[in-house]
Amino acid sequence: MLLLPLLLLLLLNLATATTTRVSLYLGSGTSDNDNDAFLANLPIALSQAFPHGDYTITTFLEDEFSNDLLTKTDLLIFPGGSGNGQATALGDDNLALILSWVNAGGSYIGTCGGSFLGMSHIGFYGTPTPTLQEPWDRGSGNVSVEVLDVGFEELALDRDIFAGNITIMYYQGPIVKPQDLPSDVNMLAMFRTEIATNHPEETMGEMINTPAITSKEVGKGRVVLNSPHPELQPVVPEIYAGEILWVLKLV
Ligand SMILES: *[C@@H]1O[C@H](CO)[C@@H](O)[C@H](O)[C@H]1NC(C)=O
Ligand SMILES: *[C@@H]1O[C@H](CO)[C@@H](O)[C@H](O)[C@H]1NC(C)=O
Repeated sequence: MLLLPLLLLLLLNLATATTTRVSLYLGSGTSDNDNDAFLANLPIALSQAFPHGDYTITTFLEDEFSNDLLTKTDLLIFPGGSGNGQATALGDDNLALILSWVNAGGSYIGTCGGSFLGMSHIGFYGTPTPTLQEPWDRGSGNVSVEVLDVGFEELALDRDIFAGNITIMYYQGPIVKPQDLPSDVNMLAMFRTEIATNHPEETMGEMINTPAITSKEVGKGRVVLNSPHPELQPVVPEIYAGEILWVLKLV
C-alpha cells in the first residue's frame, strides 16, 4: 500500500528535476570531423558538469531550426566548420532570433566556425562586429594556450592541473586583437604560440597574445566563444564543462 504513493512521488520528482537541454547544430557549414568530435566528447564534458546525467543533447540541421526548438533549448552549441556557411544556411532571420533568445536569457557556446558565427554574423560582441585578423586561413596545429585568472574563475578550472600552458588544437579559428574587442568581453585564455603556415608573410605574429577563449554577458544571457578546439585531440573536456556551467549561470 505504501509502494504506490512512493512510486508517484518518484515519478513526480523525475518530472520536476531540472534537465539541461543542449541543442547542437550539425547542419550545413559544419565539418564531419568536428561534428564527430563533439558527439564523442560533449557527453564527457556534460557528465563532468552534471554528474547525475541530467542533460539531453538534441542535434539539429538548418531546416530543423525554429523558435519552437529554442523554447526547448537551454544551451545552443555551434561547432567548427565555416561561419559564413553556417550563417548562410540559417539565414538572417534565424540569426536575429538567436540573438534575441540569448538576450532574453539563453546560453550559447561557439567553437571555431561557431565562434565566427557568434562574433561576425550574430553580433554577440556588438555591431560593428570586431575586426578580425586576415587572412583567416592561416593553417592548423597544436598551440599553447594560457588560462588567465578570469578564466580560472569563470570556468572553475583546477589551477594545479591547468596552470601554465595547455595544448589545444587550432584550426583557423577567429583571431582578434585584444584592443579590437569591446571592454565588456572577457578574455579567459590567450594564445601563447601561433600558427602561420599559410600566408606567413601576412599571418606571422598576428596570433600570439590574442584571446583563445572569450565570454560575454549578452542581455540576460551568456556567450562563450572558442577560437581553438578543446573537443579535438588533445581533448580538454574540463574547458567545456566549465563553459557549460558558466553560460547556464550555474556557477
Ligand atoms: C596535438 O597533440 C596531441 C597530444 O599531444 C597529439 O595526439 C596530436 O597528434 C597533436 N596534433 C597535431 C596536429 O600535431
Ligand atoms: C607559454 O608558452 C610560451 C611560448 O612557448 C612561453 O613563452 C611562456 O613562458 C609559457 N607560459 C607559461 C606560464 O609556461
